[in-house]
Amino acid sequence: MGAGKTTVARALGLPHVETDDDVPIELFEDGEAAFRAREAEVLGDVLRRAEPVVVDLGGGAVTTPEVRSLLREHATVVWLDVDVEAAWQRVEGSGRPLARDYEEFKRLYEERRPTYAEVADVVARDGDDVALAAAGIHIEHGALQRLGELASGEGLVALVSDPHVAGIHGMDAQLALGSRLAETHELPPGEEAKTLAALERLWQDLHLDRGGTIVALGGGCTTDAAGFAAAAYLRGIAWTPVPTSLVAQVDAAIGGKTAIDLPQGKNLVGAFHWPRRTVIDPALLETLPEPQRLEGMAEVVKTGLLAGEPLWELPDGELVRRCAAFKAAICLRDPLERGERAILNLGHTFAHALEAAAEYEGVTHGRAVALGLLAALRLSGRDTHVVEELLRPQPVQVDRERAWEAMQRDKKVRGGRLRFVLLGADGPEHGVVVPEADVRWELDRLIE
Ligand SMILES: NC(=O)c1ccc[n+]([C@@H]2O[C@H](COP(=O)([O-])OP(=O)(O)OC[C@H]3O[C@@H](n4cnc5c(N)ncnc54)[C@H](O)[C@@H]3O)[C@@H](O)[C@H]2O)c1
Ligand SMILES: [Zn+2]
Repeated sequence: MGAGKTTVARALGLPHVETDDDVPIELFEDGEAAFRAREAEVLGDVLRRAEPVVVDLGGGAVTTPEVRSLLREHATVVWLDVDVEAAWQRVEGSGRPLARDYEEFKRLYEERRPTYAEVADVVARDGDDVALAAAGIHIEHGALQRLGELASGEGLVALVSDPHVAGIHGMDAQLALGSRLAETHELPPGEEAKTLAALERLWQDLHLDRGGTIVALGGGCTTDAAGFAAAAYLRGIAWTPVPTSLVAQVDAAIGGKTAIDLPQGKNLVGAFHWPRRTVIDPALLETLPEPQRLEGMAEVVKTGLLAGEPLWELPDGELVRRCAAFKAAICLRDPLERGERAILNLGHTFAHALEAAAEYEGVTHGRAVALGLLAALRLSGRDTHVVEELLRPQPVQVDRERAWEAMQRDKKVRGGRLRFVLLGADGPEHGVVVPEADVRWELDRLIE
């Protein structure tokens, strides 16, 4: 009580049930047993529903053995751990039966902690931790060393990585997987991994049965390709991305999208295949070369602009946690990209046009996104200095007409109208139609 469960649960924006609503507090007057029995009954009904739901559980519920077994079977349990003074301040004077006397409140708080520790799958400090837990994302400095216990499931693992990352972190991953490790595979480096030829080879080499897990260790190319391999192999097996680049930790490995490329374009074949567990170890970023870091910073700046907070100022661990949680919460609300998830494309319509005009040679995605963010900010009437200072975007040398044509193709794909993500007074807006002349003007400014 007073941990802030209701606030956090509402902020997640997912279907949300407060068991208290259906358990009349008056029952308490008939004795706690009657109250707890009704509570367990209500929880059972809620947890057996097919749709995922956030349940805001009364603090005493876990004292009932039946509740504990329901939770073990049907839920991810997040313990929102706050100190007793903070909790008391929130409930003091509320008149709730267990919040009338500080000493009694504190006694109960201490008494229940061991039970909370026992039932919790995850201990959370704030709403971001809760979003990450709901998305199955585990972030921990040094997590790679605990991969054996953290990778989803308990069965055998096929470790898939890129040759470069395998050379740096592969041995640690193998040691950590221990007896779970059944096979190791390498995908070609970079975008080469995201080809049908590379996946055909991988599929032919895999020996896992349906109870196995693919662990994808590498940047976004590895996680995209191995994730799609997992989505289709034996009609779908579990997978755990272990993203090693900044791009992958804050973006590519979050949200369940997997894909490979076609000669006609990037990411044209793929699947939504949400990993059971994602394991993020920010310590792995220490070996990331500076240019790759800058690639990731473009997505970090994008995320900060969307969130309205300077997330780029945070130290690595916290930066990754906040960015990953921001994307995870949006993807949980809109897993199949039917609405809100589109805001994650801030700056990307311009970026894709520039990358296509360069035929994906010489213009990296991060550089193109940095330029795209400039255009999006200008169209939003916003200041651009954050992008300029952090990402130092340089205009690209591509053919202006080709870039414009690429944008028109994008328009065809998206139902005949170019729509943009802009930053409005109340936050990001997607599906905004901008006059073509303004779009063209901003696009031309990004080209040398
Ligand atoms: N699925 C999604 O939602 C999503 C979102 C964003 C991007 N992506 C995809 O991600 C891909 C780009 O990801 P990327 O930038 O990570 O590319 P990448 O996988 O090619 O990695 C970039 C380079 O960094 C190296 N590297 C990675 N981790 C390292 C580490 N810890 N130490 C040293 N070197 C390391 C890799 O070997 C590689 O050379 C693109 O194909 C893009 O389409 C997907
Ligand atoms: Zn991007």
